[in-house]
Amino acid sequence: PLLQPRDNFSSVKLLAESPGLDSIPSSYAYFNTHPHESIASDPQVSIPVIDFSLLSSNNPDQRLQAIRDLGRACQDWGFFMRVQVVNHGIPESLMNAIFDVTNEFFNLAEEEKMGYETKHVLDPIRYGTSFNASKEQIFLWRDFLKVFVHPDFHCPRSPRVFSELLEEYAKRTRGVARELLGGISQSLGLEEGYIAKLLDFDSGVQIYVANYYPPCPQPELAMGIAPHSDHGLLTLLLQNGVGGLQIQHNGTWVNVNALPNSFLVNTGDQLEIVSNGKYKSILHRAVVNNKMKRISIAMVNGPSFDACVAPASPLLTGGHGNQIPGLYAPMKYREYLEMQQGNKLDGKSCLDRVKAITR
Ligand code: SIN
Ligand code: FE2
Repeated sequence: PLLQPRDNFSSVKLLAESPGLDSIPSSYAYFNTHPHESIASDPQVSIPVIDFSLLSSNNPDQRLQAIRDLGRACQDWGFFMRVQVVNHGIPESLMNAIFDVTNEFFNLAEEEKMGYETKHVLDPIRYGTSFNASKEQIFLWRDFLKVFVHPDFHCPRSPRVFSELLEEYAKRTRGVARELLGGISQSLGLEEGYIAKLLDFDSGVQIYVANYYPPCPQPELAMGIAPHSDHGLLTLLLQNGVGGLQIQHNGTWVNVNALPNSFLVNTGDQLEIVSNGKYKSILHRAVVNNKMKRISIAMVNGPSFDACVAPASPLLTGGHGNQIPGLYAPMKYREYLEMQQGNKLDGKSCLDRVKAITR
C-alpha cells in the first residue's frame, strides 16, 4: 500500500516531497529493527567550550589555559567541544554563504545531481542517499554530497558560485583544524607540530560532507544518520540552526544544540589511533523531525592518503623506559577510508577491526 523502497526515488528529498506522504516506507523504519536506546534525563547537557582566540593567542599563559581546556574536553567527553566564533577567522557571511549554496545544490534538478552519483567511495565528488545504499537493508533519512577539497580541490560545476566559496571555506577550516591539532598535540605532551608532521597534514585529506535531512512524517521511526565515529582526525561541523545531532556520553544519547557562529568539533578515529586510545573518537548520530529540513556541513580533516597511521611512538614509552603496548595496528589512511566508507555505518566497527589485529 505504501510507497516502494527507495528504488523509485533517487533521494529522500524527492520521497519526502511526494504529495500526501504521511508515513514512511518500511525500508526507512530504522527503529523497527533497532532498539530505542536511552536518552539522558537531562538531554541538554552543555558541552565544553573552547575559545579559539585563546588558543591562537601570543600570550603563553592564555595558550596554556586553552591547551588545558582541550585536554579536559578530551578526558571528560571523548573530545567534543564547541569552538566559539570569536576570532576563529571564518566570517559569518562565509558560513551563511556556504549554507545557501549547499541548499541550492540539493535544490538542483534530480538528473543534474544524479550526474554525481558514483560507484567508488574515493571518487572526488559523490552525491547520494542514505550512507551506502548498496550495503544497507534499512535506509537512512538523509541525502548527502561529499567532495574531496584537499590536497586536490574538486567541486560540482553548479551552482556557479559553489567553487569559489567552497575553496575559501575549505582553506579557512583547515587552518582552524591545524591550530586545534597543534594544541591537541601539546596536550598529549608532544611538540605542537608533532602530529601534523607525522601524518603529513600539509597534504592532508579534507572532505566536505553536506547532509540534507528533509522533514519526515514519522520521525520516531526514521534515522537521519546512524551511530558512527568519524574516520579522520578532526571534524568541524556546522548546522543550520535545526537540532538533531546527538552524541553518546556516559552511555546515553545527549542532544547537542546548534548555536549560531560556532563549530562543533570532534575527534575522529585517526586521532584515537595516534593517541593510542587516550583521545577516543566519539559516537554520534542525527535524528530527524517532522517540521523543518535540517542541513549540516561537516569538514573532515584527516592525514594524507599515504600516511601510515599508528600510535605515536613517544606515547609508547612510560616512566623508567617501560614499553606501553600500542593498541592499534598501523594502517594507511587511504585503506581505512575505503574500509569505512565502503561498508555500512556501524558504530566504531572499523576501529575495532584495526584494534583486533594487534591482539
Ligand atoms: C555527521 O555525523 O556526519 C552528521 C551529523 C549531523 O548531521 O549533525
Ligand atoms: Fe559524523
